[in-house]
Amino acid sequence: MKMLLTGGAGYIGSHTAVALLEAGHDVAVVDNYANSSAEAIKRVEKITGKNVSLYEADCCDNTRMLEILKTEMPDCIIHFAGLKAVGESVEIPIEYYRNNIDSTLTLLECMRELGLKSIVFSSSATVYGDDNVPPFTEGMPRGVCTNPYGWTKWMQEQMLTDAASASASGKREWKTPLSVVLLRYFNPVGAHESGLIGEDPQGIPNNLMPYISQVAVGRRDHLTVFGNDYDTPDGTCRRDYIHVMDLAEGHVKAAEYAASHEGSEVFNLGTGDPFSVLEMVEAFGKACGHPVAYEIGPRRAGDVQDSWANADKAKEVLGWEAKRGIDEICRDAWNWQSKNPKGYSK
Ligand code: NAD
Ligand code: UFG
Repeated sequence: MKMLLTGGAGYIGSHTAVALLEAGHDVAVVDNYANSSAEAIKRVEKITGKNVSLYEADCCDNTRMLEILKTEMPDCIIHFAGLKAVGESVEIPIEYYRNNIDSTLTLLECMRELGLKSIVFSSSATVYGDDNVPPFTEGMPRGVCTNPYGWTKWMQEQMLTDAASASASGKREWKTPLSVVLLRYFNPVGAHESGLIGEDPQGIPNNLMPYISQVAVGRRDHLTVFGNDYDTPDGTCRRDYIHVMDLAEGHVKAAEYAASHEGSEVFNLGTGDPFSVLEMVEAFGKACGHPVAYEIGPRRAGDVQDSWANADKAKEVLGWEAKRGIDEICRDAWNWQSKNPKGYSK
């Protein structure tokens, strides 16, 4: 099948491109390089020995997207494109709402016009809010988000679900019932085992694993652990860290499912196993062969204490489950970081 990946030059998109190509699908990528570079796609081609059709474009540009989608006519769109930094979204909410909401509306308009059927969307565990108790199941009511980034995910889920319902009625200008798959990612980490592609955050990393990796490689002095007074065994927050290649393989299953179904479905993509911040620091120390320096700091505003998935639905319906554990995550993150200490910029 032909898959079109918006934001496909980014962290999760590039790994998904590898998994799709290896599963025998054709891949087209649309990216405006707001947070990535074309180098990632060159490396995807190197890993797989296959070509990717690459378009530099903004997914909010209706005319251009229509042109690209008309050329490609994909069996499924996987919509990764978006701005994703929680803290930044508090500072520039309008840019976040404009980019994330507008890109999704634009894609839906183009799909309606061209009669394209299937879309898989990158949502986040953040939509569970902090009132639900983990493990989170897809049937739980969505919660209250603590930042504009989270709200954009919440709203995009709603827009896509409403569009699927409207298209099913066959009324108005819908040519075909939509198939929408919402994937709620937990904490994507790690890198492709080749060490050729991985996470390359701009500036100071916001997230735990890239921060630990940069301390380990000597780019930063030490990690600050945001709070050790939570009600957990070691006092630090617990998360469901999922290897990015497991996540990528989940997209292959989700896109194949979307292409042969109608309506909307939600799936958690997580492992179901929580790890604390200090457990991650220790595991990374083992992988890189020396301890990772850290100090305990205050809690970070907006952090939930615990977040992990119930991943049963993806296993039952998609036949997918995470295979890689914490040791593979740390091994592959370290392999990428040590081979590319400055990311794609060398
Ligand atoms: P990323 O920033 O590496 O990738 C996003 C890509 O989208 C980038 O290549 C960027 O240049 C591109 N982009 C942004 N706006 C665009 C636009 N208007 N037009 C074209 N391209 C555009 O991020 P990622 O970690 O790969 O995340 C992919 C998706 O998954 C995002 O929607 C993100 O919100 C979501 N997500 C990520 C995480 C995580 O922890 N990484 C967790 C949950 C959900
Ligand atoms: N942490 C530290 N020090 C750091 C960075 C993080 O102690 O320098 C801690 C955080 O306090 C948290 C844990 O490490 O307890 C994980 O933090 P991340 O920032 O890596 O991940 P989050 O769970 O906070 O964020 C992720 C995604 C967001 C999403 C959010 C909610 O990155 O996109 O989950 O689901 F919105």
